[in-house]
Amino acid sequence: MGKSFSPFNIDSYLKVSSEKSLLRFTTAGSVDDGKSTLIGRMLYDSKTLFEDHLSAIKKNPDNIDFAHLTDGLKAEREQGITIDVAYRYFSTPGRNYILADTPGHEQYTRNMATGASTADLAIILIDARKGVITQTKRHSFICSLLRISNFIIAINKMDLVDYSEAVFNKIKSEYQDFSATLDLHQIKFIPVSALFGDNIVTKSNKMPWYAGESILESLDNTFIGSGHNLLDFRFPVQLVSRPHHNFRGFCGQIASGRIKVGDKIVILPSMIKSAVQSIETFDGPLAEAFAPMSVTLTLDDEIDIGRGDMIVKKNNLPLSTNYFEAMLVWISNTPMVANSSYLLKHTSNSTKAVVGHLSYTIDINTLSRNLTPHLCMNEIGRVTISTHEKIFIDTYKTNRQTGSFILIDLLSNNTVAAGMIIEKIPQEDLFKRYKQIDIDAAQKVREIHPSERLVSKSAYEIKLKQQGKTLWFTGLSGAGKSTIGRLLEKKFFDEDRFAILLDGDNIRAHLNSDLGFSDADRSENIRRVAEVAKLFNSMGMIVITAFISPFAKDRLKAQEIIGADNFYEIYIDTPIDLCQKRDPKGLYKKAINGTIKEFTGISSSYEHPESPSFICSTQNCRPEESAMSIFQFYLEKL
Ligand code: ADX
Repeated sequence: MGKSFSPFNIDSYLKVSSEKSLLRFTTAGSVDDGKSTLIGRMLYDSKTLFEDHLSAIKKNPDNIDFAHLTDGLKAEREQGITIDVAYRYFSTPGRNYILADTPGHEQYTRNMATGASTADLAIILIDARKGVITQTKRHSFICSLLRISNFIIAINKMDLVDYSEAVFNKIKSEYQDFSATLDLHQIKFIPVSALFGDNIVTKSNKMPWYAGESILESLDNTFIGSGHNLLDFRFPVQLVSRPHHNFRGFCGQIASGRIKVGDKIVILPSMIKSAVQSIETFDGPLAEAFAPMSVTLTLDDEIDIGRGDMIVKKNNLPLSTNYFEAMLVWISNTPMVANSSYLLKHTSNSTKAVVGHLSYTIDINTLSRNLTPHLCMNEIGRVTISTHEKIFIDTYKTNRQTGSFILIDLLSNNTVAAGMIIEKIPQEDLFKRYKQIDIDAAQKVREIHPSERLVSKSAYEIKLKQQGKTLWFTGLSGAGKSTIGRLLEKKFFDEDRFAILLDGDNIRAHLNSDLGFSDADRSENIRRVAEVAKLFNSMGMIVITAFISPFAKDRLKAQEIIGADNFYEIYIDTPIDLCQKRDPKGLYKKAINGTIKEFTGISSSYEHPESPSFICSTQNCRPEESAMSIFQFYLEKL
C-alpha cells in the first residue's frame, strides 16, 4: 500500500475525453484506392494503436504495412463471416472519433450506406492515377442521399504522380463537375500519400503548392452541429417498465429534440394528452433530456402505451400515415418486386408494408432517372410505400431518425433495403398521386378485399324503370340549392321515380359532422358525398346533391368518383348580392361582421363552373319553375 502504481489518472482522463466533441465519419473508396493504408496511417500517426497491433506491423520497421491494421475486416470477409461495417475509435487532443470503415468492393455499396447513415463527414478516396471513377460517383451519391454534410475528397497516391499539382487540379475539377448536381455542402480536396504519410496527420513538404490542411487537421477543424435534430421531439417507446405497481415508465432513446419535466406531450397513435412527470436515467433523474439520450419517462396520467407508440410534443406532430414516398437503396440479391409485402422497421416500430409503384431508378453514373421495372442490388430508386399500421414519420431531410427505415424480407428475414422518406403525401392527394396499382397495394396491405356484387346497376335500373344519375348542384349559400332540390325530389316522386336529395346542412349535421369549412374539409365533404351518390346511383337511384362545392377541382373529383356518364353539373346561378339580400339563415350578416369565418363569397372563394351541364338562373324564377326546368333537363338527357 502507499505505492503509486501509475501517474495516469483514469477518472480525469475519462472526464477530459468525455467532454471532447465527437465526430463520426466514414471512408469510401474502391478496393485499391489505399483506404486501409490511409486508415492505418491515421491510427498509427495519431498514436491510438494498441501495443500488440504495433508490434505486429513493426516486424519490418522500414516497411510498415499500414493496411495490416485493418486486416481484421479483410480476414473476416475471407472466412465468409459477414462483417458489414467495422467501427474504429480513436482520438486526438481535440476530438473523439468514430470511424465507420466500410468495404470498398463494388458489391459492398450497401455496407457503405449502412456505415454512412450516422456519419457527420465522409472521406472519399480517389486514386490519383485513375481520377473520378464509377465507385467515386456511387459513394458520393449515397453520401449525399444520406445527407452527410461534410466531405473530404482525398486524392491519394500522389507519390505515384510525382506529387503533381496539375493532376490534383484536374481531378478536383472533374469531381466538381460531377458533384455540381448533388446536394453536397462542405467539400475539401486534399492531396495525400497514405503510404508515406503525406498530408495525413501533418502537412507534407513534398507538395508546397498545397496550402490547405492535412486530413487530421481538417477532421479536427470541421464544424459539426450536434448532428441531431434538437427541434422536433420524437420519443419512440421501446419498452414499458413496471418494476412495481406504483411506477410505470416508458423507456427509449430520444430520436430527436429535447424534453423537460412538465412538458405537455401527446401519445401517438391514440392522441391522448399528458405531461412529463419525471425523466429517469441510470444515473438518476434529470430536469431535461435531449437526443440521443436513452431515458425513461413517467407521465402525469395513467395511460396505456406500448412498444411502437411515439411520444411527441403537442405543437409539433410528425405525420401519422399509411402512405409515403421514399428513396430505397436496394441491398439484396433478389430484386425488388412492385406490390410485394415486406416487414418495415421504423424507429421502434415494425409493420407489414407493400412497396408499390417504382417511379424511377437513378443511374448513379449520370445521375439520370431511368424507368425500369425492377430495383436490383445496389440500385437506388424512388417508390411509394403503404404500411399496414400507421407510422409516425418525418422527411429524412428534417429528421434522419424518424425519416429512415429498413425493409426486411418476410420469409428469409434478411434486410433488403434501406429507405429514406422523401415526401409526405397528404391524404387528400392520394387518389391523384397514386396510380391504381398503389390503391390496390394499399388495400392489399390493409387486408381490404372488396367483393364483387351480384346485382348490377342496369338490373336495378330495369326494375326501377329509371337511370341512376347524379344531378350535382353547385352555387353560393342562399342560392336556392336546397329549396329547389327538395321540390325536385318531390317532383320525381310524384312522377313515380326514386330520387334522394343529399343536402349540405343535413349531411354536415350527421355523416360529416366531423368536418368544418377549411379548404381541406370542404374537399373531404365533397369526396364523401360523391362516394355516397355513387352508391345510390349504383342501385338505380337518382341523386340530387345540394352542396356549395366551391372548388372546381373538388367537383371534378366528384365527377371522377361518380363517373362522367352519370354526372351532371347543375349551376344554381344566383348573384351574390341577391343571396345576401335573401340571407335565409342570416349567415351573410354574420360573415360580414366576422362572426362566421371562411364564409363562401365573403371570406372564402367560390369558383364558378366553366361549362356546367345546365345553368339554372334563379333571379326571375320561382323555385318551383327552377325545379321543373331541371326535371325537364333530366328527361331530355335520357
Ligand atoms: S361546402 O362548401 O362544403 O360545399 P356545404 O354545402 O356542405 O359547403 O355547406 C354549406 C352550408 O353550411 C351553408 O348553406 C350554411 O348553412 C352552412 N355554413 C356554415 N358555415 C359556413 C361557411 N363558413 N361557409 C359556407 N357555408 C357555411
